Order: sequence, then C-alpha cells, then structure tokens
Amino acid sequence: MTITIAVAGSNGNLGTRICKELVARGVEVRALVRKSDAKAEKFPKGAAEIVHVKDWTVEELKKATAGATCVVSALQGLRDVIIAAQTSLLQGAVAAGVPRFIPSDFSCDFTKQAPGLNRNLDLRREFHGVLAKTKIKSTSILNGAFMELLAGRMPLLDLTHKKVTFAGDPDQKLDFTTMDNTAAFTAAAALDGDAPEILRCAGDQISPRELAHLAGELHHSTFELVRTGSVDDMLHQIERMRADQPGELEPFPRWQSMQYMHNMFSGAVKLAPIDNTRYTGIHWTTARELLSKRPA
Ligand SMILES: NC(=O)c1ccc[n+]([C@@H]2O[C@H](COP(=O)([O-])OP(=O)(O)OC[C@H]3O[C@@H](n4cnc5c(N)ncnc54)[C@H](OP(=O)(O)O)[C@@H]3O)[C@@H](O)[C@H]2O)c1
Repeated sequence: MTITIAVAGSNGNLGTRICKELVARGVEVRALVRKSDAKAEKFPKGAAEIVHVKDWTVEELKKATAGATCVVSALQGLRDVIIAAQTSLLQGAVAAGVPRFIPSDFSCDFTKQAPGLNRNLDLRREFHGVLAKTKIKSTSILNGAFMELLAGRMPLLDLTHKKVTFAGDPDQKLDFTTMDNTAAFTAAAALDGDAPEILRCAGDQISPRELAHLAGELHHSTFELVRTGSVDDMLHQIERMRADQPGELEPFPRWQSMQYMHNMFSGAVKLAPIDNTRYTGIHWTTARELLSKRPA
C-alpha cells in the first residue's frame, strides 16, 4: 500500500529537508506550497507531488491533504502563521479524515516551561490548545536549537572574538540538532503510527564550558568563557532590549533569540528523555563535527 504524507511549508528550510527524507523512505510526498512559483526542483526529480494551495482555506487544505496518513507542518512565522494558517491546515486535515498531525514545533521543550518567557514558544503552546480540541493524533518533534545556529546568529559562540557568552551555570547542557537530523527524525516519526505525543531528539548536548574547550581545540586557540550574570539578570536585559528595539512583527528580533538563550541557560526547557534511538539509520551530527567543517 502506498503511504502518502502531506508536508506544509515544504518550500522552507526544514520543510524541503523533511520532503527529501520522506522521499528517501519511499513515501509518496505531497508538498503543499502557497507560492505559484515554487520550484519543484527543490525535491528529487518526480518524487514529490507539488500541490499549490492558493488561498490557504480549510476547503482547499481538505482537498490537498485528503488520503494522507499524516500531515507535517513546517510552517514558520508568528500568530498569523502558527495560530491562524496552521489552524486552517489542521482543520483541513481533520475534515479530510487524516489520522495524524505533526505541528511546527521543532524547538526546545516548551511544555516544561511557564508561559511568558518566550513569545514564539508561547504561540506553540497556544496552538497545542487548538490541537487538543480535535481527535487527530499528534506528535511534537522537539530538537532543541538547530545546531547550524551555533556557528550563525546565535549569541553564544563568537568565532571572531574567540569567546563563549552565557548566563547562569557554565555547566548547563544545551540541546542542539542539525536541520538534516531533525528532518530525518521527523520523517521517521511521520511514518510511525505508534509515535507518542512528544518525541525529543538531540544531536549533541553541550555546556558553555565544553563549547569553549571544543572551539579552542578546533581553532588552536583559547576561547574566553564570559558570564553576563544570572539567568534572572538576563530576563531584565531582555525586557529592556524588547522595550528599546520592539521588532514585535519580526519572527526573530534579537530579544527573541535572547529569550531562547535564557530558556536554554535556565535548564527549564532541557530535553529529557531523548528518543534518538527510536529510529535506526540516523547518524547524529555532533557539535564537534559541525564546527570542524566551519572555516576558522
Ligand atoms: N529550533 C530552532 O533553532 C529553530 C530555528 C529556526 C526555525 N525553527 C522552526 O522550524 C520550523 C520551520 O522553520 P524554517 O526555518 O524551515 O522556516 P522557513 O524556511 O521560513 O519556511 C517556512 C515555510 O512556511 C511557509 N509559510 C509561512 N507563512 C505561511 C502562511 N501564512 N501560509 C502558508 N505557509 C506559510 C513558507 O511558505 P513560502 O515558501 O510560500 O514562503 C515556508 O515554506 C518552524 O517551526 C521554526 O520555528 C526552529
């Protein structure tokens, strides 16, 4: 029997990777795209069926998801996307009788944290309230931070100034998973009818102190470990930053990145238990592997 999985946000960074992983598993992929110029070439030739969803209405989405065994959402945005567009997707899937749904969570474990400490994670929590009112079976994929951010915009490892900046405990482990690993794990979960409500994966769990050692070793140098203060101090800093540079309509203003960092440094959103071994065939990329590939 052919298995069909519908992927929303299939043209995005993570969504494209999820489609490729599903195709590699021999699944019929229905890639939902909202732009008429979406490039089919993003997917292996002829492997995914591109379905254009013009107005993103429940009726259109019902048609687009009919016959799928699971709908995977890799949408990205704020309230208009995570609540509004994703709710339409969910309602379409429910109306089509799709049995399973994977929401666009892909984050640290917001289920363990009090509301009000991370705007983007609060939207995910709110969407779970919507999800809970339906009978569809859902699985959240929690992967910590995308590991690529370590060498990117995350205010943690500074390769230029050779320092690791943190708040709180230098030995607090932080969860990181590459986008490819997250996509592979999500694809496996989409095919797993017995998947629980939450699945947690982490390619690596590394503390600020360990990260400074690792970066020093890889760059044949010394990385300074800079403690900015306690995690509570960081909360005040975020409040001031948010008041000064609002960016309320941007998905990732600087204060939002700081909220993620605060949540991770506090340990509240730490992933446990880790389900990495639930599926075979995934090589989990470590921070050492990822950073070894980056130029000094
Ligand atoms: N844990 C982490 O460190 C981390 C970091 C980054 C992202 N994430 C999460 O990973 C997930 C995917 O993010 P990404 O980086 O892959 O995002 P992305 O590259 O920006 O892709 C987002 C996708 O959502 C679609 N989309 C946006 N608004 C929409 C709307 N109103 N209606 C329908 N589709 C809409 C976009 O469609 P178009 O192609 O038509 O624009 C695009 O395909 C999100 O949950 C995001 O928060 C996690």
